[in-house]
Amino acid sequence: MGYEITIEPIGQSVTVHDGQTVLDACLRAGIWLPHACGHGLCATCKVQLLDGEVDHGDASNFALMDFERDEGKLLACCATAQSDLVIEADIEEDPDARYLPLQDFSATVVEARMLTPTIRGLWLEPDRPVAFQAGQYVMLHVPGVGERAFSIASAPGDRRIELHVRKVGGGAATTWLHERLMPNQRLDLTAPLGRFFVRKSADRPILLVAGGSGLSSPKSMLLDLLAEGWEPPITLLHGARNLEELYYRELFESLALEHANFTYVPVLSDSVSEAWNGETGYVHEALKRRFANDFRGHKAYLCGPPPMIEACIATLMQGRLFEQDIHTERFFTAADAGAPARRSPLFKNI
Ligand SMILES: Cc1cc2nc3c(=O)[nH]c(=O)nc-3n(C[C@H](O)[C@H](O)[C@H](O)COP(=O)(O)OP(=O)(O)OC[C@H]3O[C@@H](n4cnc5c(N)ncnc54)[C@H](O)[C@@H]3O)c2cc1C
Ligand code: FES
Repeated sequence: MGYEITIEPIGQSVTVHDGQTVLDACLRAGIWLPHACGHGLCATCKVQLLDGEVDHGDASNFALMDFERDEGKLLACCATAQSDLVIEADIEEDPDARYLPLQDFSATVVEARMLTPTIRGLWLEPDRPVAFQAGQYVMLHVPGVGERAFSIASAPGDRRIELHVRKVGGGAATTWLHERLMPNQRLDLTAPLGRFFVRKSADRPILLVAGGSGLSSPKSMLLDLLAEGWEPPITLLHGARNLEELYYRELFESLALEHANFTYVPVLSDSVSEAWNGETGYVHEALKRRFANDFRGHKAYLCGPPPMIEACIATLMQGRLFEQDIHTERFFTAADAGAPARRSPLFKNI
């Protein structure tokens, strides 16, 4: 049994099945609703219910407060229909979005190895190619745990999907992916998701800022840009605790030698040995130093843990780069559901 969802102001309708979320039904039908985390934590997918009844599912009280539920708001990534629905969504046309319909895939794990002491690289070969834009993410179906978001680190043309999984203390999915998943095992996933992709039409210098395993999306974006001969400058800052946690250094150093428009800036925050003569401190501090606190004319793409992203946004805004030119992918975990993020009140693009 299913219900109809009518999406205003475009007036299009889609069918939603029992247990299927509003977001899933829309994305599979090629109707692109705003979304980011995909599991009730970030509030990007909040829409207005104009008519009908929903079950709010796993929407956290932090992302969807009680008074908002009373006002008829819902999180499209969690809400399931209990009747026909009419919703009103903020569907912004984006000239750089490809609007690829969400699909299910089954994949074989062809390689798995530690990239650092805390980050495991996984290489998956799906049964058919996964179409995505560099920067987007997949939902992995982790057996016995549920769905979890991981950004794609490989470039869009690659047959293999590369993921970088940081093990989270007490995290069921990341522990399973580190300790139980082995080469040749099968894994299901849903893709593509997210709106973290390069706005190529802007044709401006690009700042890629990554924290820890937040290198995944920027790596994919960089490989994609360089492969197509992107000419404006690209700077990648990668923040890691120490040398052991700094991965893909050789790859980025050799890309910087090959491409005059690409600069690689690794930044170490802890225990720096005397042999290290690179940037130190937090990545937002290095960002400020490198650009003398003036980011005008850039497009910035920030990826990684929410506190790193908030600190970088504050730095960029002080250096006169504003909301429309800052794009983010926050690696939310369940722990963030109870911790209100420190966000600039000027920044609605959460
Ligand atoms: C769009 C997106 C892309 C991402 N891409 C990547 C990526 O490329 N690489 C990567 O490493 N990570 C990525 N992440 C983060 C990744 O999805 C999470 O690390 C993962 O979902 C954690 O799952 P888990 O089951 O291991 O831990 P969770 O179940 O999320 O638990 C994490 C921690 O929170 C604690 N916790 C659980 N519930 C609560 C609660 N109610 N209150 C307080 N604490 C609680 C747990 O004990 C544990 O310590 C991404 C996240 C998003 C949203
Ligand atoms: S996408 Fe729905 S809350 Fe993040």
